[in-house]
Amino acid sequence: MIAVWNGAEIARSDDCLIVEGSYYFPLTSIDRDLLRPGPHRSRCPMKGEASYFDLRVDGHSLSHAAWFYANPAAAFVHLENRVAFWRGVQVLEAGEQAHAVDSTAAASAQDPAEQERLYEFLSKIPKTEIHLHLEALVSCESIYRLMRENQVNIDGVESQGDLLRRFQVRTLEQFIDLYINVIQPCLLKAQDFDLILRDARDYLKRNRIYYAEIFWAPTKFMQNGLEYAEMLDVLDAGARRIKSEDNIHIKFLVDLSRSYGPENAGRNLDLVLAHPRDCVIGVGLGGAEENNPARDYEAVFERAREAGLHAVAHAGEAVGPSQVWEAIRTLQVERIGHGTSAVLDERLLDHLAETQLPLEVCPSSNVFTRAYVHELREHPIRNFFERGLNVTVNTDDPTIFGIELSDEYLNLYNHCGFDLNEILVLIRNNLNASFLSDRNKANCWRQVRERVAKLQDRLGFQLTIP
Ligand code: ADE
Ligand code: ZN
Repeated sequence: MIAVWNGAEIARSDDCLIVEGSYYFPLTSIDRDLLRPGPHRSRCPMKGEASYFDLRVDGHSLSHAAWFYANPAAAFVHLENRVAFWRGVQVLEAGEQAHAVDSTAAASAQDPAEQERLYEFLSKIPKTEIHLHLEALVSCESIYRLMRENQVNIDGVESQGDLLRRFQVRTLEQFIDLYINVIQPCLLKAQDFDLILRDARDYLKRNRIYYAEIFWAPTKFMQNGLEYAEMLDVLDAGARRIKSEDNIHIKFLVDLSRSYGPENAGRNLDLVLAHPRDCVIGVGLGGAEENNPARDYEAVFERAREAGLHAVAHAGEAVGPSQVWEAIRTLQVERIGHGTSAVLDERLLDHLAETQLPLEVCPSSNVFTRAYVHELREHPIRNFFERGLNVTVNTDDPTIFGIELSDEYLNLYNHCGFDLNEILVLIRNNLNASFLSDRNKANCWRQVRERVAKLQDRLGFQLTIP
C-alpha cells in the first residue's frame, strides 16, 4: 500500500511505516475525532494547516473513511472495512536509518477491535494528573508562532517543518536541547504563557482530565528578563478562564529547581511567598537530579512547609534509591516524583508500602530517558503495585515525549500486566494523591464511578469499580 500524507509519501516496509518528507504528527496524540471532518480538527496538538489531516491512501482522502489512533509504537488505520495494523511507526528524515522496532508493541496488539474498545473506555474515563511540566504541554505550532512573533532565531529552524523535526526527540540530549534551546528562548513575554495554557487545556480536554497539578519552573524565564509576578498573573487568569469555560481545574506547583542551586531555589520560594495565589498550592524540585542532592534543599523546603505549602520532589528518576530516602527524610515531601530506582532497595519498598507515600510514576517518560528502564514491560510499576505501594500514573512531558495519559493507561494494559479493574484503582490513586480536599475527592470519585458504570455498560465491560 502506498499512502500519501500532506504531500509526503508514506511507504510501508515489512516492519515499519516510514514517512519521508518534512511534516509529521506524533501518532500518540491523534484520536479518532481528528480525522473526522468538522470542528474537531482544531483539537489536534499539531494543528495548523488543514492539510495536516489530508491523509490519502491509493489517492483517496481518508478523512471521511478512516480514523487513526495509536500507542507509542503502533498505529491502527481503519480503512472502510479493512483494518491495517502498522507497527513500529517511525518518522525518518531523508537518508536516516530506521531504528529497531519494539517487538512488545506488536505482541500486545493482536486485536485492533479490542484495542479500539479499550482505548475508547480508557480515554473517556474522567481523570486527574499530578505530575506534568508546563513547558512540556506546549504545541509545536505555538512555539513556531512565538518564534516569529518574538523574532527569535533558532539554529537550523527556518520553517514549521524544521521545528516539528526538532520536537520529535529521540534521546535525552535532544529533549534537553528542545527545552533549553528551543522552547524556553521563545517565551519572552509574560503573555506567551497564555498560549501554553491554551495548549495545556487542549491536552487536558483530549484526555478527559478534570483536575491537574502542573509544575511551573520560573527560573529560566526570569533569567530571560521576565517578572515572576507578571507570569503568575497570566497563569492565574488563564487557569480561572479554563475553569469557567471548560470546568477543568488547574493548580500549580512552583518548581524551585535543583539545576541552579539552593540559593536560587530560596529566592524562588521568596517570590512564591511574596505573591500568594489560590492557583499556587505548593513547591516541587525538578531539574538535574545528578550532582544536586535533595539534602542541599532541606532548609528551603522546611521554610515552604512551615508556610503551609505542599511539597513534592523528583527523586529516584535519574539517581539511585538514596535520593528517594533523602527526599523523604530531609525534604519531608508529600509525594515522590518518579521513584523508579526505589525498586533497587527492599527496605525502601517496605517503607513506601507502609507509609503509603504516593509515587508519581511516569512510565513512558522513564523509558524515554532510559535511566532505570529500557522498555515499558521492564518498568517496576507492576512490582510497586503488587507490593502495595501507592502508585499514581502520569505523563511528565506529554508534547515532548509524544505521550498522552489515555495512551499511558492503555500501555499499562498492553505491556505491564494491568487489568482494567487495576487501572481503575490507579485512576483513583491519582485523585487520592492529589492536593484536593477530602470532600472534593469523595465528590469527584462519586461522579467518576457513575461515568465508568455507564461507559462499561455501553462498551460491554464488567468491572468492579472501586
Ligand atoms: N523538567 C521537565 N521534565 C523533567 C524531568 N523528566 N525530570 C526532571 N525535571 C524535569
Ligand atoms: Zn517531571
